[in-house]
Amino acid sequence: MAGQPTRDDKFSFGLWTVGWRAADPFGEPTRSPLDPVEAVHRLAELGAWGVTFHDDDLIPFGSDDAARERHIERFRVALEATGMVVPMATTNLFAHPVFKDGALTSNDRGIRRFALRKVMRNLDLAAELGARTYVLWGGREGSETDAAKDVRAALDRYREGIDTLCQYVLDQGYDIRLALEPKPNEPRGDILLPTIGHALAFIAQLEHGELVGVNPEVGHEQMAGLNFVHGIGQALWAGKLFHIDLNGQKGPRYDQDLVFGHGDLLSAFFLVDLLEHGGYDGPRHFDYKPPRTETIDGVWASAAANMRTYLLLRERAEAFRADGRVQRAMRRAGLDELAVPTLADGETPADLLADRTAFEDFDPDAAASRDYGFVTLAQLALEHLVGAQA
Ligand code: GCO
Ligand code: MN
Ligand code: MN
Repeated sequence: MAGQPTRDDKFSFGLWTVGWRAADPFGEPTRSPLDPVEAVHRLAELGAWGVTFHDDDLIPFGSDDAARERHIERFRVALEATGMVVPMATTNLFAHPVFKDGALTSNDRGIRRFALRKVMRNLDLAAELGARTYVLWGGREGSETDAAKDVRAALDRYREGIDTLCQYVLDQGYDIRLALEPKPNEPRGDILLPTIGHALAFIAQLEHGELVGVNPEVGHEQMAGLNFVHGIGQALWAGKLFHIDLNGQKGPRYDQDLVFGHGDLLSAFFLVDLLEHGGYDGPRHFDYKPPRTETIDGVWASAAANMRTYLLLRERAEAFRADGRVQRAMRRAGLDELAVPTLADGETPADLLADRTAFEDFDPDAAASRDYGFVTLAQLALEHLVGAQA
């Protein structure tokens, strides 16, 4: 059975996750505020390795310098007492009404400049606390009507903003990379950089694209009806998976932020398999919301559930790969063959043209008769997932 989480598992949580008071558009909070210091201690006891935060999660918006220092100092003491690390930090560019039309892409230039300064200030704190990744989730970068936003101008400003922040990181000599977090909608009607693919294409246009990657969230791609595992596969392929937000979602609807695995479980299984075998060694970060029905006891139960689900799926994925029947089914499916380059070493298009076996003598009907056995492989995965093959 999967053991208890340990520091080596690199599980991290946002302060805003366990600290969510469960106010929603229809109802008031159901929980009291949670002191970040308590969150650090409780998460450490549960076996987490790291904690992440928005500037305003730690230091309430508008705090003066003295209050700011006190909040940071208490947090620092809690980190030292528990050994918890801060692998990532981010900026709240969505809660205050000033950001109602966005931050880096607000139509109001003064607000764009204010937003940049807010990010820069928290980048300083992130660097001080040892964070290596800085997330930018543009929740308010978007519109409700296409009449109100010139998308090309907004993307110019978005690029300018990210370029400016990269230049700042370089000027300060910070060992930090930026990670953009895509989301298709909510809170805006439509958000810019709605999917992993849009974000990757945007990064290719940046001045310092090498410093910028993505922080995809399970539910956000699924809100767009997309396959998260494929998205992560492409981000890994591009060398851009800098960070990840794990949670659960049931198909295209509002952002549910469920516990990891409490949405599309089969996809969660293949995701863990990919993260564990695909060369990702960054944080396993949970960005979920403990449901509104839970008291603080349920908050800690849900935090533990995220980690336990990940460990269970990791164990199932290992058993799946170690199973001889799975290995045979994978060979029959052609997974090894897909890893072989289509052209031989040094082969040119002219060589390919000269190869009669590739076309003139190739028998498409015979090739079409191949049975890939994908269903057998899929069923083996399902049986490992539910423990039928344990
Ligand atoms: C969401 C988002 C946010 C961001 C976080 C980082 O669920 O809409 O994931 O939670 O990840 O605010 O800025
Ligand atoms: Mn979300
Ligand atoms: Mn997120």
